[in-house]
Amino acid sequence: MLDDMSDSDPSFPLIDERTGRAVLELVRGCTFDDFLFAPQRSVLPRRDPSAIDLSCKLSRRITLKRPIVSANMDTVTRAPMAIVQAEEGGIGIIDRGFRPGEIEPQVREVEIVKRTQHGVITDPYSVWPAATVADAMALMTRSRVGTLVVVDGEHRLLGLLTERDVRFVDGSRASVSERMTPIDRLVVHRGGPLTPEEAERLMVERKVKKLPLVSRDGRLTGLITARDLVRQRRLPFATRDAKGRLRVGAAIGATGDYLERAAELIRAEVDVLVIDIAHGHSAVMDRAMREFRKHFGQVELVAGNVATAEGARFLLDLGADGIKVGIGPGGGCTTRMTTSFGVPQLQALVECRLAVGASGVPIIADGGIRRHGALAEALVFGGDSTMLGSAFAGTEEAPGEIVHKSVLLPESQKTVKVPFKVLRGMASIDAIRDRLDVEDADKVELEALGAEGMEISVPARGSARTIVRDMLKHLCSSISYGGASSLAELRSLFWADPPRFLIRQSASARRESYER
Ligand code: XMP
Repeated sequence: MLDDMSDSDPSFPLIDERTGRAVLELVRGCTFDDFLFAPQRSVLPRRDPSAIDLSCKLSRRITLKRPIVSANMDTVTRAPMAIVQAEEGGIGIIDRGFRPGEIEPQVREVEIVKRTQHGVITDPYSVWPAATVADAMALMTRSRVGTLVVVDGEHRLLGLLTERDVRFVDGSRASVSERMTPIDRLVVHRGGPLTPEEAERLMVERKVKKLPLVSRDGRLTGLITARDLVRQRRLPFATRDAKGRLRVGAAIGATGDYLERAAELIRAEVDVLVIDIAHGHSAVMDRAMREFRKHFGQVELVAGNVATAEGARFLLDLGADGIKVGIGPGGGCTTRMTTSFGVPQLQALVECRLAVGASGVPIIADGGIRRHGALAEALVFGGDSTMLGSAFAGTEEAPGEIVHKSVLLPESQKTVKVPFKVLRGMASIDAIRDRLDVEDADKVELEALGAEGMEISVPARGSARTIVRDMLKHLCSSISYGGASSLAELRSLFWADPPRFLIRQSASARRESYER
């Protein structure tokens, strides 16, 4: 598995200036479907995602083992999507499509992700020994946790209380201390930190499913559960924080309640914040990022969207830890149609890649990936990672109700009911209306809304997990065709000699490639 892989540097390689400028000239006005890569001599024995290093940088301080990010759209990423993405090695960014003042629902989504899995639970739910069993049971129900730690006033471990200890007990009479398993009958780890492997060995040896950790003076420092260890082993590529919890991001916007929202999300231990506005190269962004840094110092911050070298340099100078690139390529987006502004995504990626240069600030290629093959292009031309929205719309983990629509089958001329979910651009009129408190909103403000997004019905399909896994298999095949053995190597080979790879497609070649 991971150990078999070459441990390549996940950073994007530095591009020689002359080569960069030549490629930029070639891709000006172009996007994914304008190019193919010429197949190279393959060196991989098998195209197995578990054996190929796909790691990349999301932001300055966060590395992903898989280069996939689910978009901060209210029909794409809430906790269920973010959990699947992080379990599969990418990350989800929880959208901010909640009304101003409604910060708590977004925070709750982050908390759900952070509480899904642990390495060490550093703040396990606890009760006093003198509490009644009824109190303890109420806490178990509220927190949906079946084991409570029992501590004294100085946080010294006294015992464990599980659901089994309180079954069939008169809760109002019995106290926790009567029913708990006291510390002298528990397996406890005392002293310094424990690796997951050491914890697993100890738990197997002593046949326990819970392992409390205490300091030398008996104070509780954490709890390790067999369930969490099993999950860690089953998901070796998952994106985890230092405490073994899944990582998650959240979007905050650049006006209104964004600072308050950021403060609450940081309190919930969100891993990265995303200031995300349609036009990130703007005075609004300038003010928002300066205010953000003034309030929150070095919290990991991705900013966007931009699509030009000037835009990328602007965000770099403002201290972004990651830059989201893409103006107008998104599936639910109408910016280019309604404004005639935007940059074809391949040109945008090369321009911004050259602009960030050796800064070490990664680029997220955001939008326009409509077929799996475009992933490899986004990741080779300039994206450290890719952000996708429509690709995950309609999946089980995408928010929103399923609606059944009548569809006419052309072959049989029969009408059948097909399940659909809605994908809507975050700048669609409905998404904006939902975000604004329509009751309180200024009438003029509502009338001035210019939509730059639309609503699309997407057939309901299975889990996003299957989609991610398919994408990764195809990405590994791209790496194999490219004569590389890792994502990092594919990028290096390409940028060492772009003409060896690049084939500009004619209109008829494009038809041959994509029309089926
Ligand atoms: P895909 O192509 O994966 O793109 O669906 C997802 C990205 O599209 C952007 N997005 C929008 N852009 N108006 C826009 O101009 C919109 O209403 C809109 N909604 C989403 C966004 O960058 C997302 O990550």
